[in-house]
Amino acid sequence: MKMNELKLVYFSPTGTTRKVIMEAARSIDLKSVSFDFSVYKEKKPSLKFLPNDFAIFGVPVYGGRVPALFLEYLENIKGDNTPAALIATYGCREYEDALLELKTEVENRGFKVIGAAAFPTEHSIVPSIGSRRPNKADLKVIAEYGTELNRRLRKSESFDEFDIQVPGNSPYKKYGGSSLLPKADSALCTLCGTCAKVCPAGAIPLKEPKKTDHKKCIGCMRCVRSCKQKARAVSSMKMSILERKLNKVCQSDKTADIFL
Ligand SMILES: Cc1cc2nc3c(=O)[nH]c(=O)nc-3n(C[C@H](O)[C@H](O)[C@H](O)COP(=O)(O)O)c2cc1C
Repeated sequence: MKMNELKLVYFSPTGTTRKVIMEAARSIDLKSVSFDFSVYKEKKPSLKFLPNDFAIFGVPVYGGRVPALFLEYLENIKGDNTPAALIATYGCREYEDALLELKTEVENRGFKVIGAAAFPTEHSIVPSIGSRRPNKADLKVIAEYGTELNRRLRKSESFDEFDIQVPGNSPYKKYGGSSLLPKADSALCTLCGTCAKVCPAGAIPLKEPKKTDHKKCIGCMRCVRSCKQKARAVSSMKMSILERKLNKVCQSDKTADIFL
């Protein structure tokens, strides 16, 4: 099949998923267009992909699931038996039902999954876990995944032959939200509004960036990473409790799982 365009559809509050998806995309011989849903959009865009487009969907794992916010964007995206590949990044604990959920949601919207992968990365809440991953060796594995996807696109006339199986259980694991929600330190905040502009959940009012709507906040850490004044942080007590807990259940040297 003569392929049209590579569509990169992703959610990446702290930039790791973006890095991974871009590395995979480098191996695909198609011009690409990105739909980055890490910046809040009140109105979710409607997108229709062609049968000869190729889509890569990328998400971070939150509590073993696909972030609910990404699913809201996915609702308005339609494929037409469009081939697609999946990428889940996770902070070296587990990805549990996230790939199965992503696959099911993507298939329900008219895509044909021809590959799926879960890549262990730096943990966005506790960056000492999986520190600096994806590293050089990880990038090589990610590029190889991209190369195999590219080969499939080049060789196949129809994608019906692919039957990708991923681990996970349905009903999915319950996700109750993060208990680590950042706050602004009034003494340090200069009201520059950067955090409000980058918040994926629209949880920080631009006119009052010292406030956070904790009903909307998803605890993604994007505001913490983007604040030059270091005014945004989570409670240090809660953080050290989580750090201790995660250190017991995460393995910084986990390897990628690729399903082809
Ligand atoms: C709210 C939240 C929940 C998370 N849940 C998990 C999890 O269940 N398992 C895991 O291994 N990592 C988990 N992580 C870590 C992220 O999945 C991981 O760091 C990811 O690569 C971040 O991607 P990003 O940089 O594109 O935002 C979580 C991170 C956040 C902020």
